[in-house]
Amino acid sequence: TLLFCVALLLAYLLGSIPTAVWYGRTFFNIDIRQHGSGNAGATNTFRVLGKRAGTIVMLVDVLKGFGAASLTFLLRREGTMTETELLACALIFGFVAVLGHLYPVFANFRGGKGVATLLGMVLAIRPDVAAVCIGVWLLVVIASQYVSLGSLLAALAFPVLLLLRVFGQPENPLLIGFGFLVFLMVVITHKKNIGRLLQGNESRTVLIKMKKT
Ligand code: G3P
Repeated sequence: TLLFCVALLLAYLLGSIPTAVWYGRTFFNIDIRQHGSGNAGATNTFRVLGKRAGTIVMLVDVLKGFGAASLTFLLRREGTMTETELLACALIFGFVAVLGHLYPVFANFRGGKGVATLLGMVLAIRPDVAAVCIGVWLLVVIASQYVSLGSLLAALAFPVLLLLRVFGQPENPLLIGFGFLVFLMVVITHKKNIGRLLQGNESRTVLIKMKKT
């Protein structure tokens, strides 16, 4: 349990690394939260500071979730835990990292929306599910140019695909339940985006340009 608490703290601190805020401050001398959508995330970094900055912030934010969920290796060495218990720990550590990203202790508790960090967590736990969610996200973003809509639908795809047993096996109910919790969380962090999408004034971001042939 001591190890568990240490891992929990590490996960929060890892998630708390405000990549977008620090990147903007260090290389552009701005607070990203005062520009664009005001969000301290990869999408807004891309929007305000460009492709290179957005990609780096996204990679680091994904790594935070991946690293946090992987902290289970600290517990695995004890060798006394079942697979479900280890899964539960990975989910808890990942979730705490996302909370850190949302409320970073290193940036006045004003962080991002958690999508990249959530992706990192899912990549560590179920890379197959993560791959399909990335596919959904890409399709929606390319088709609509609304990153927020892509994030929302990818987050919805996560539990729905598990429920429909798209990956062949009956899934752990813990993971399915958690998936719905994640979707709910993404809806909450995207409340303003949803309002703008419904009013038709959400900003379009061209993340990926399709080459015209
Ligand atoms: O991952 C965040 C994205 O879904 C929306 O970001 O900056 O457009 O609010 P933003």
